[in-house]
Amino acid sequence: MPAKGRILTGHRPTGRRHLGHLLGTLETWARLQDDYECFFLIANYHVLTTDYEHPERLRANTREVLLDWLAAGIDPQRSTILLQSAVPEHAELALLLGMMVTVPRLERNPTYKEQLQQLGMAERASLGMLAYPVLQAADILIYRADTVPVGEDQVPHVEVARELARRFNGLYGSTFPEPQALLSRTPRVPGTDGRTMHTSYRNEITLAAPEDEVVRAVQGMITDPARIHPSDPGHPEVCPIFAYHEALQPATAGPVTEACRRGEIGCVSHKDSVARMLVERLEPFRRFHAQMAGHEDDVWDILQRGSLRARAVAQATLSDVRVRMGLTDLMAPEAMPLPSWEGLDLSGKVCC
Ligand code: TRP
Repeated sequence: MPAKGRILTGHRPTGRRHLGHLLGTLETWARLQDDYECFFLIANYHVLTTDYEHPERLRANTREVLLDWLAAGIDPQRSTILLQSAVPEHAELALLLGMMVTVPRLERNPTYKEQLQQLGMAERASLGMLAYPVLQAADILIYRADTVPVGEDQVPHVEVARELARRFNGLYGSTFPEPQALLSRTPRVPGTDGRTMHTSYRNEITLAAPEDEVVRAVQGMITDPARIHPSDPGHPEVCPIFAYHEALQPATAGPVTEACRRGEIGCVSHKDSVARMLVERLEPFRRFHAQMAGHEDDVWDILQRGSLRARAVAQATLSDVRVRMGLTDLMAPEAMPLPSWEGLDLSGKVCC
């Protein structure tokens, strides 16, 4: 049997996952487990690049992400689920990779440019933000992953990882595969206001939302604004309810599309049936969250075990990297005797 390819991908733990995450990524990840050895990363260091002033949110948000991943079929028996900060080797590799990339190269990254614009002032951009893609490269390379399933917005980051792998291999000998982005083919998932579903727009339908909340969200959505009476011909291509229908039940979407164009089905009844589809599709998420309420330890146990397994792989890669970069264990007593501290007063402050 040919060796399986290896995947690393992940999310920043920013809270509950929503329908956009499910249709865009989680369904794909769950399927990829059949064909790849998978590492799924909860990137909590990355959250701190923008949110370091709110550490109190991290724990709950990490838990929410993990629960939604598990409910979506990410399987800790087959895949490794890990917490970034539990494998601090990511940070050391990022430090080392940072030596081989220029500041102007990182300043060209579109995400960084966007952040600069939002901040308004270049002075407020942190080193962490600039180095975000370097840390992401370390996440990928430390597992020697060859495939990185991500959305379009992450492609520039994967490109940095590819460049760093090439640069490292060129300097120190073949060490890392050049990772490839694997783009998901999911259509844009509209949020409740018609814009792309995004946590920061507050237009999301979260996966474990209570049933009545899902129904209310769908009923409150704007369909085809040109349609006043149910018998007016509709334009399904502009209607977010159709986008949901297509994603959730493609087999029945075609005929309903035609009926809408002919003015034979009203928006209210279409919303009712799509709301039912959605409630049904999200049922496993509600059930899983309810089941796991009060079982905190089981959840952390999964993350702990995954992180330990990941750490063994990460440590092996990092020790190879350290040797190649001339950082062999110089401080081992047999390699270098400790200097004599005689005559120094170490009782007080050791450092200036
Ligand atoms: N930057 C990714 C996001 O915001 C999260 C992430 C961190 C990631 N490290 C990664 C994704 C490595 C893929 C590979 O969604």
